[in-house]
Formats: sequence, structure tokens, C-alpha cells
Amino acid sequence: MGIVSSQLSISLDGYVAGPEQSRQDPLGRGGLRLHEWFFGLDAERAQDGSAGVDQSVDAKVVEEMTRDVGAYVMGRRMFGGGDGPWDEGWRGWWGEDPSFRTPVFVLSHHPREPLLMRDGTEFRFVTDGIDSALRQARAAAGDREVAIAGGASTVRQYLAAGAIDILHLHLVPIVLGAGERLFDGITPRLEQETVVAGPTVTHLRYRVLR
Ligand SMILES: NC(=O)c1ccc[n+]([C@@H]2O[C@H](COP(=O)([O-])OP(=O)(O)OC[C@H]3O[C@@H](n4cnc5c(N)ncnc54)[C@H](OP(=O)(O)O)[C@@H]3O)[C@@H](O)[C@H]2O)c1
Repeated sequence: MGIVSSQLSISLDGYVAGPEQSRQDPLGRGGLRLHEWFFGLDAERAQDGSAGVDQSVDAKVVEEMTRDVGAYVMGRRMFGGGDGPWDEGWRGWWGEDPSFRTPVFVLSHHPREPLLMRDGTEFRFVTDGIDSALRQARAAAGDREVAIAGGASTVRQYLAAGAIDILHLHLVPIVLGAGERLFDGITPRLEQETVVAGPTVTHLRYRVLR
């Protein structure tokens, strides 16, 4: 059985999304700044290394974290589309090629049929809780890793349940002041494994102690 991991970009004051998430502003006010370093990786790849800042350190960290993932679990707000019963026309933020290329288990209180995307990613909607979603993700992943993709509420629940082995935090030097705080109401014990300094963010890898 593979490990269970989670990776999140986090502000210096502990937020993983800004306030007032909406269809227009999925990451909440100011939240996009958490991911600028990551979007830069795509720009760099697309422009063959000519994007200015050398992000090879960041790219290596991300590649190492994602290469062995066999299934993902995410919350319905990360998948998007608003609250309440599903708008069946909503197929996620990522278009027809979301790039997960594995089963992705989406936690929701509202049932929905699975969605098979063009690149092989399959979104499966789970309404019977985090244990069921993790059990299904483990079965799909086999010996590979299960990644709890986010957002804050989902990762918090798995941390509280003691189900995450490795937590990767990309520490972004911004202060958001409001939004979704990762550690609200939970007090996991973490042991630092590695620290990698990228040009604009710091990559922290923690083992979650039982
Ligand atoms: N910083 C990062 O690296 C990072 C990574 C991922 C996401 N994010 C951001 O985080 C934000 C979303 O986080 P969030 O904390 O607001 O929400 P979330 O964890 O993505 O989703 C919460 C929703 O998932 C469903 N859900 C959660 N637990 C459930 C359970 N046990 N049983 C059934 N349904 C459950 C509920 O949806 P229903 O309404 O259907 O019941 C709930 O409202 C977004 O802005 C996203 O972009 C940031």
C-alpha cells in the first residue's frame, strides 16, 4: 500500500486560499498569489527555460512529489461549480485535460455520476465521507501514492483523522490576512524531513507523527 500525502501552497500567515471564493475568483481574494510560483513552472516549460527566473529547483520538487501518485482526493470547492446540487454542465476548473490522469475522488454531500475526461482523468463523486473516499482512492492507486489535493477543509479532516503520512508545504512569502486557514482547529505533530529553497518559495516536507 502506498503512502498518503498532501501538498499545498501556504502563506506566511497559514492560509491556503483567500477569502470570498467564487466562480470568478476560485482561489479567493489574493489567493492566486499562492500559486504564481507554480504557474511560472508551466511558463518556463512552455518557453523552454526562457521565463527569467531559474525554477529548476521548484520543478524538481514538484516532479518528485507527483510522479508516483496513483489517485487523488479533493473537496468539492476545489473541484468548483458552486454549492448545492450539481450543475451537470460544470466539469471542473481544468478543462477537458485536467492532467491528473488518474481517478480523482471528489468529496461532496451531493451525488453525481462519474466524469471521464479526455486525458483519462476520471472524477468520481463520493458522498459517504472521507474514509470511504480514501478507501476507494487506495484501491485505485494500488501500490502507488494517494494525494489529498485540497482544499483546506478536506486536508484538515484527513490530518485530524491521522490519515496523512507526508505533508508538503510550499511556503510563499505573502500575508493574506483572511481566507481558509490550514491548521484551524487541528494540532497535528510534524517532523521536518527536508527543506528546499527555491528562488521565490520554500518547499517544506514534514512527516505527520501519529
Ligand atoms: N493552496 C493550495 O495549494 C490549494 C490546494 C487545493 C485547493 N486550494 C484552494 O482551497 C479552496 C477550497 O478549499 P475549502 O477548504 O474551501 O474547500 P474543499 O475542501 O475544497 O471543499 C469543501 C467541500 O467539499 C465537500 N466535503 C468536504 N468534506 C466532506 C465530507 N466529509 N463529506 C461530504 N462532503 C464533503 C463539501 O461540499 P458540498 O457542498 O458538496 O457538501 C464541502 O463544502 C479553493 O480556493 C482552492 O482553490 C488551495
